Amino acid sequence: MKKILFVCLGNICRSPMGEGAVKSIVKHNSLISNYFIDSAGISAHHIGEKADKRMRDIAYKHGIKLTSKSRKVVLEDFDNFDLIIAMDNSNLRNLEKMANHNKKYLEKIKLMRAFDTLAEVKDVPDPYYGKDDEFEEVYQIVYRSCENLFKYLESKM
Ligand code: 4NP
Repeated sequence: MKKILFVCLGNICRSPMGEGAVKSIVKHNSLISNYFIDSAGISAHHIGEKADKRMRDIAYKHGIKLTSKSRKVVLEDFDNFDLIIAMDNSNLRNLEKMANHNKKYLEKIKLMRAFDTLAEVKDVPDPYYGKDDEFEEVYQIVYRSCENLFKYLESKM
């Protein structure tokens, strides 16, 4: 079982999209039973909320239903997951702080766009205060990154 956690700030836009994208890719490859996929947020601001309606609508347009409920990252996540995927460098730094020099934990943290071959910048942009086209851009970035992440997981883990 490969256990992957996606992390962003609010756990209502980018990380639910990552969770939904990999769940969809895994389902299309008939590998559901090999994976446990979840998402969480650095901030506690939106705990219990569904993904942002704008993100859900864009995902749905592309055939992906987002089902997450926002929760905060907890220290146990570093034991319970094999990989923790940060959506931007700020999330990455916050996760590294939580890992508190624990080498085993630090090794599990990766940037989403480390898997994006088209990336000029390594952050998935925060769409929260943006317009609909920014949500479409997040979808495109996250989906293609997740396709590469899936290939990596199938070949390396
Ligand atoms: P996310 O987007 O980190 O991709 O879920 C955000 C959601 C909420 C806020 C910021 C970013 N906020 O400031 O409430």
